[in-house]
Amino acid sequence: MAGPSLITLSLAIALGAYLGPFIQPLIREHLPFFFPATSPQNETCPPHRYTTQIISLDPPLIYIHPFVSPAEAEALIALGSPLLEPSPVTGYGSGAATSQARTSWSAPLPSADRTVSCVLARASSFLGTVLSPGRDDMGMAQMVRYTPGQKFDLHTDWFARPRVDEGDAEVGRRRMYNRVATLFVVLGANHTGGGETWFPQVRTVTDQARRGGESVWREHEDGGLAFPAVPGGGLFWMNLLANGTGDARTVHAGLPVEGGVKYALNIWPRAFFGPDA
Ligand SMILES: *[C@@H]1O[C@H](CO)[C@@H](O)[C@H](O)[C@H]1NC(C)=O
Ligand SMILES: *[C@@H]1O[C@H](CO)[C@@H](O)[C@H](O)[C@H]1NC(C)=O
Ligand SMILES: *[C@@H]1O[C@H](CO)[C@@H](O)[C@H](O)[C@H]1NC(C)=O
Repeated sequence: MAGPSLITLSLAIALGAYLGPFIQPLIREHLPFFFPATSPQNETCPPHRYTTQIISLDPPLIYIHPFVSPAEAEALIALGSPLLEPSPVTGYGSGAATSQARTSWSAPLPSADRTVSCVLARASSFLGTVLSPGRDDMGMAQMVRYTPGQKFDLHTDWFARPRVDEGDAEVGRRRMYNRVATLFVVLGANHTGGGETWFPQVRTVTDQARRGGESVWREHEDGGLAFPAVPGGGLFWMNLLANGTGDARTVHAGLPVEGGVKYALNIWPRAFFGPDA
């Protein structure tokens, strides 16, 4: 009597474990009261599929692949393309800040768009404890397009002088922000050459890493590392030191694109400070 029921039970458990992943979504859909919704909005975002690789610890630089799926990249390019305008260059920490230094075109991506909000949520989750909840934010995602000859000369993403958000200025809120980190993600690239992201002052953690496996970078002839544009691939780095000072070693360039086109996504999480932060 005990024997067969035990076998039935183990069989049921085994079958449940095997079929669980397939049956659960069905049950969730038809019997939602069994599964109280914990985070309905987040559930609509596809899970990330990336792996990460630490390139440098000082300054922190991490390679992420793939940060966006081909479908997400396609959706973001379609969303941003009609919004493209010549890229602004304003108040960068170092390097020439003339319009000739940044010749690409860029587009702010509306955060209300589902793909944008999912990618920003993914970035927020990757950032972990970098942002202070209730004080800092993810900023607005920006799509950028490089066509032949277009580039972004050596510059840093942090501001030498912290900035005031336009909305804050309108209502007289006295807080300032700086770009605490950067997440740069390649969305699409069919260019025939160039188009690398070059960090002249970044070194890999060990010489061993340089020899092992297939590299996602190459050693640039003028020093540092150059990362070829690989669709989906992302680079994350910290712009500010722990005391809030900009890290000059994060200086980087978008090298000129030869033939074809390169699309990328900039995410600049913002750290706020000042009296009304
Ligand atoms: C989605 O996840 C983010 C980050 O984990 C969290 O801050 C946010 O509150 C979540 N949204 C919902 C609707 O639960
Ligand atoms: C912040 O830390 C860096 C590195 O330790 C140092 O060079 C810099 O002077 C510090 N800045 C301030 C404002 O304390
Ligand atoms: C690259 O893709 C764009 C569309 O995004 C297309 O117009 C162009 O012809 C392509 N160039 C090459 C070299 O394949």
